[in-house]
Amino acid sequence: MGENETVTVPFPLEIVTDRLILRSPELSHAEPMYEAKQESIPELRQWMPWAREETDIEKGKENIRKAIDEFKAQTAFWILLFDRKTGQLVGSSGYPRVNLSVPKVEIGYWLRTSRTGEGLCTEAVIAQTQYAFETLHVQRVEIRCDDNNERSWRVAQRTGFTLEGILRRDCLDLDGRPRNTRVYSMLPEEWESGSR
Ligand SMILES: CC(C)(COP(=O)(O)OP(=O)(O)OC[C@H]1O[C@@H](n2cnc3c(N)ncnc32)[C@H](O)[C@@H]1OP(=O)(O)O)[C@@H](O)C(=O)NCCC(=O)NCCS
Repeated sequence: MGENETVTVPFPLEIVTDRLILRSPELSHAEPMYEAKQESIPELRQWMPWAREETDIEKGKENIRKAIDEFKAQTAFWILLFDRKTGQLVGSSGYPRVNLSVPKVEIGYWLRTSRTGEGLCTEAVIAQTQYAFETLHVQRVEIRCDDNNERSWRVAQRTGFTLEGILRRDCLDLDGRPRNTRVYSMLPEEWESGSR
């Protein structure tokens, strides 16, 4: 990448790993997405604001349309995770916050409850980190999470990200209490040296 060049994330996007296919959103994903979210509300509602809102399939379609629009506009990149063998939608990840002129991306994720504990999120994060460095040529990949969300920050630790610090009382959690935020990052040279 030369100076002053901004990266572009292709749409549609597909990344294949050992057990997963990562795909940019399509309208046909609305139903399996709704089903996966409904199954996982008790676990998701502690951490994801949208899991506390009333929802239905129409709202699900609206969300997918928004995700497609944001992807095309290059402002946010939600990606859906599918089991390669069965085609089941197992969760979602992506780059919800980016700055494509640095360029840098942040990775976010959630899994349907019945597919946790298999290392699928870890596999998706590694694939997206690889894609970010090797195809998008970003300077920085970031993961941010609530200090109380241990399962989330363990994904960052397991994939070899560096804990840069804990932002004390950074914002409010979903119950309105001040929360500490963990900031993890990886740089291209760390990815290349295989420090993960
Ligand atoms: C965050 C979240 C995706 C983590 O799910 P997870 O199942 O713990 O993460 P992984 O898919 O990477 O699986 C790791 C677990 O599988 C185990 N595992 C099994 N096979 C594995 C493999 N091949 N590779 C890695 N881990 C494997 C690991 O030991 C680990 O279990 P442990 O925590 O008991 O040690 C999930 O808890 C979630 O959706 N939470 C709600 C949403 C949320 O908080 N999102 C983050 C907001 S910042």
